[in-house]
Amino acid sequence: MSEGTPIQNAGRPGTRGEDRVWTVLELLRWTTDYFRRVGIETARVDAEVLLAHALETERLRLYVDYEKPVLVAERDRYRALVMRRAGDRVPVSQLLGEREFWSLPFRVSSDVLTPRPETETLVEAALGKVAAMEGDSGRTIRILDIGTGSGAIALSLASELPHAEITATDISEPALQIAAENADHLHTRERIRLLVGDLFSPVASERFDVIVSNPPYVARSGAASLPPELSHEPEMALFAGVDGLDVIRRLVAEAGDHLSPGGWLLIELSPEQVDVVEQELLNAGFVDLERHFDLARWPRVVGARRRAE
Ligand SMILES: C[S@@+](CC[C@H](N)C(=O)[O-])C[C@H]1O[C@@H](n2cnc3c(N)ncnc32)[C@H](O)[C@@H]1O
Repeated sequence: MSEGTPIQNAGRPGTRGEDRVWTVLELLRWTTDYFRRVGIETARVDAEVLLAHALETERLRLYVDYEKPVLVAERDRYRALVMRRAGDRVPVSQLLGEREFWSLPFRVSSDVLTPRPETETLVEAALGKVAAMEGDSGRTIRILDIGTGSGAIALSLASELPHAEITATDISEPALQIAAENADHLHTRERIRLLVGDLFSPVASERFDVIVSNPPYVARSGAASLPPELSHEPEMALFAGVDGLDVIRRLVAEAGDHLSPGGWLLIELSPEQVDVVEQELLNAGFVDLERHFDLARWPRVVGARRRAE
């Protein structure tokens, strides 16, 4: 654009950018181009979401308001967001402080992993297991979510399963604080137990019907090639040793002692880890192994059952 820029110059006295009136569409075009130049793949969507946030409106509303001029104060708010997105590569979810998961609004911060759409595969798989168990017995089903982070999995399950007993753990206290806030916000606080500690240590002598986990599973060996946005999420939520399997191996080794006979273990992982993890499950005595696929058709969750006695 030739007449200054809406981002660098906006609001600064004496600059051409301030003199110029920018419409919604012009701002979106300029920012999309800027984001593309710095390597942000989701350039247009990010521009729209951030502008809608700065204007305190819905994203779809922007399409109706394309020709509307944006006030200087609004443009200043937008500029601050755009600079953090492009400069520090802060993820949009953290700029907004919120991400939708399972059609529910989850508060997120740099203390938790932003819930990913593929994790809904794990929620779906768990609901399938619970439905079969409830149908079999009519009893209260006990569910454990290891490494709950924002609470995405546990609270989505709580929203669907009013009669289940749900426990969620995390090694990170700040993450559990966010999970507690989300539980309050989603009116499920009284239905969920949040415990801090390493894997099964907070539930040492307890057994569950379904254990779910989306543990850290990124390989340290590939860290250099990861998108810069990941540096804004906690290391402990992402990395698990050289091959990414340190936490999953421990989960598989210890889960049997915390499952009721016939209970299910469901673990999210990276598709290339499936074969190794299935072998670990078989070695640990699990049966009835199954794979669940995400929307991109990648095997994203492995399920296995503790032998019924
Ligand atoms: C990939 S994140 C998943 C967060 C959330 N469940 C989700 O799906 O969006 C992994 C979580 O596991 C927690 N974590 C890592 N190591 C752990 C351990 N040894 N014991 C318990 N939690 C752990 C991290 O703090 C982080 O919140």
